[in-house]
Amino acid sequence: MKTVYVGMSADLIHHGHLNILAEARKLGEVTVGLLTDRAIASYKRVPLLSYDQRRLVVENIKGVARVVPQETLDYVPNLRALRPDYVVHGTDWQQGVQKETRQRVIEVLREWGGQLVEPEYTRDISSTELIEAVLQRGTTPEMRMRRLRRLLELKPLVRVLEVHNGLSGLIAEKTRVTDGSTVREFDAMWSSSLTDSASKGKPDIQAVDVTSRVNTIDQIFEVTTKPMVVDGDSGGLTEHFRFTVRTLERLGVSAVIIEDKVGPKRNSLFGTAVEQAQDDVESFSEKISEGKRAQVTDAFMIIARIESLILKRGLDDAMARACAYIEAGADGIMIHSNARDPGEIFAFCERYERVPNRVPLVAVPSTYSSVTEDELVRHGVSMVIYANHLLRSAYPAMVRAAQSILSNRSAGAAEELCLPIDEVLSLIPGGR
Ligand code: SPV
Ligand code: MG
Repeated sequence: MKTVYVGMSADLIHHGHLNILAEARKLGEVTVGLLTDRAIASYKRVPLLSYDQRRLVVENIKGVARVVPQETLDYVPNLRALRPDYVVHGTDWQQGVQKETRQRVIEVLREWGGQLVEPEYTRDISSTELIEAVLQRGTTPEMRMRRLRRLLELKPLVRVLEVHNGLSGLIAEKTRVTDGSTVREFDAMWSSSLTDSASKGKPDIQAVDVTSRVNTIDQIFEVTTKPMVVDGDSGGLTEHFRFTVRTLERLGVSAVIIEDKVGPKRNSLFGTAVEQAQDDVESFSEKISEGKRAQVTDAFMIIARIESLILKRGLDDAMARACAYIEAGADGIMIHSNARDPGEIFAFCERYERVPNRVPLVAVPSTYSSVTEDELVRHGVSMVIYANHLLRSAYPAMVRAAQSILSNRSAGAAEELCLPIDEVLSLIPGGR
């Protein structure tokens, strides 16, 4: 009997999948290469159903002889191992992100005279569109909160973008670029103390209180589904931090990052140019433990942010604190630096790799912004936060428009700096 290989994600099965499997069955014994959660996350998004759930569905489809995991988007490793007579896939992959994957399948099949068979793609149905429709229905606080842990499990690097209102939230939610066979987007949002304060015209000194921060978050949650990491400043008094944890958790925030500073908080990017004091290890550890005791679910994360490099206390101090904070229950460590290059961050990463009970490591490349995501992954960083880029990019455009109106005593010349009114009206879904 001839052997047939069909690769699929099968996150939402529809008649299009069944048509492909029916065609495959006519050719021989069908093995489905089911993409693992990691493989799917590597090129589009975290699947709605887990691998085991999807396997159960596919195993029970008529004519599927067996299901094997396909660990990469690339079919080649499985095809070389199984050497099937046929690979069957719908014509849809002749264009778009899977074009290169298809080419590699054709080449590898030549090695043993295998053949690619491409039944006509079933029109008017697409899992991607079905899944978009599911996502557009929105999310619940619990679903949103849990998603960050799942992303950390499945992706080599979780990519987080700063947001400070509903509109910037929509940008983080929807912006996508296609790069070869990959669709890239942001995984989560960062509620920055710096940009939430700045967009209210206030300095970043914890003057915008928790209630106001929560209002901003709520505004963003109204129009988005992605998980959020909140900049919790120093967490305030330990007695107050407990309440903040509960509030954020109830809203569906996935993680709060608190920094080991005391007294009136100043932005880290000032470094030692302003007076700022670091908390002692014991008292900050106690704050972390109190926060962990306060949370209701097992999903919410408290991430400890180490300011030793900012305050020029050195690597040994940063490492000792990382170990103590993990011991106190921290679910992640953020190491911060205001250096222009990532040298001291990488030095920390190298030592951190050797910590036996280490938790996900977070980096915020605001000053060392030329670092690449690949470099961060190679150094063991699990989450990158682009902490202020939407606010910083919007501001110069607004100033230019204001200056243009003043200079010309007319708004005509400012038009070319602005989004056309029509597009503003249709920017927001449901706006018309
Ligand atoms: C923020 O975004 O408010 C931060 C990161 O805390 S930083 O500004 O780099 O300190
Ligand atoms: Mg901050």
